[in-house]
Amino acid sequence: MKVSAKGSDVKDLKLAVEGQDLIDWAAREMPVLTLIRQRFIKDQPLKGLKLAACLHVTSETANLMLTLKAGGADLALCASNPLSTNDAVAAALASQHAIKTYAIRGEDNDTYYEHIDAVLDHHPTMTMDDGADLVSRLHKERKDQLAEVIGGTEETTTGVIRLRAMAKHMFDNRYGTGQSTIDGIIRATNVLLAGKTFVIAGYGWVGRGLASRAKGHGADVVITEVDSVKALEAAMDGFRVMKMDEAAREGDIFVTVTGDVNVLDRKHFDGMKDGVILANSGHFNSEINLKALDEMATGVRQVRPAVQEYKMRDGRRLHVLAEGRLINLAAAEGHPAAVMDMSFANQALCAAYIAANAAKLEKRVYDVPDEIDKEVAQLKLHAMGIAIDTLTAEQERYLNSWEEGT
Ligand code: NAI
Repeated sequence: MKVSAKGSDVKDLKLAVEGQDLIDWAAREMPVLTLIRQRFIKDQPLKGLKLAACLHVTSETANLMLTLKAGGADLALCASNPLSTNDAVAAALASQHAIKTYAIRGEDNDTYYEHIDAVLDHHPTMTMDDGADLVSRLHKERKDQLAEVIGGTEETTTGVIRLRAMAKHMFDNRYGTGQSTIDGIIRATNVLLAGKTFVIAGYGWVGRGLASRAKGHGADVVITEVDSVKALEAAMDGFRVMKMDEAAREGDIFVTVTGDVNVLDRKHFDGMKDGVILANSGHFNSEINLKALDEMATGVRQVRPAVQEYKMRDGRRLHVLAEGRLINLAAAEGHPAAVMDMSFANQALCAAYIAANAAKLEKRVYDVPDEIDKEVAQLKLHAMGIAIDTLTAEQERYLNSWEEGT
């Protein structure tokens, strides 16, 4: 690790101007965080806090960092994934904003952990994780520092702490993944969705977002489910619902969003039409049984950067996108800034909440308090110029009482 005069380790400080442009571009789509930043400048809720963050070093994260700094936090940042760092953004944070930043795109495993240690050398009183690398390191290797930490936040559902229960599903999964999955499929294939039979396995949050967007593109949307309530909901939302055995014969495009394994399997591949497109946007690359498909195929070839063509014995061709990995990340850009705005607004308000309530909080994992989810939604509505009604005192009394009735 080569720490620069600014106390950071980034690829090239000369990239800072380019990085600042990227940060400003993302800020245009992050009005909620901007509102919080203005409030933080006034209230200084993070004053005196030393905050260590291990997050994807992107233009959206940079806007979160600037918000936390505006709130009075003394910050150090490292990457939560060696491949997602934007070197220009890292340079801007280090040189234009004097935020200690340790992140270089493509850094090897040793450097990755050196950077995590550099952030912990900062002796944080609060941590902010995306995948729990910081807290794991603290608990495993640097236990002596644990007593210094009053609390931390976690971005992912798969991390140790499950924050943002409601907001995660609403904003990230439904709207963010719904849109970016379609984006990934189109960028990978340039296929026209209108008139195609678009089969979606799983009608959870992601499935719902995806279904309404595919319908909007003019596709004939088919849903497969294993949960009767979700299946009924899909049917009542106007989609065709059937077993995958049947859908396999009808579909032109298949997308799995279940978090399950082998949702598209040998018997389904057997019945599919020539030229179908298979994609996954669920958690892992396990939803399409590629091993079975590989065994059934006589040959596989790359026909476009993110498209593999499996040639079957009877001459049919099945196209798998991004080797069955998350199509919205592999072929598009993941969540748009407007989605990260909501997520990071939550993170910023949670940091302020921990700072304000440190004395009262127990040593355990907390969900995001309801009032923070509501506040983020309110700020977003405000940013969109939408006003909503509030309960009158009479209505509040009425709704809370069991005595008044018919
Ligand atoms: P969810 O739990 O709301 O929905 C999953 C649905 O799949 C459930 O309704 C379940 O009944 C159904 N299902 C399970 N096995 C099935 C099968 N064999 N056939 C048909 N349906 C089946 O979960 P959510 O929030 O919609 O997420 C879905 C997946 O997407 C998860 O694996 C999640 O980790 C992943 N995800 C991916 C993102 C990305 O960036 N690509 C972002 C957010 C979530």
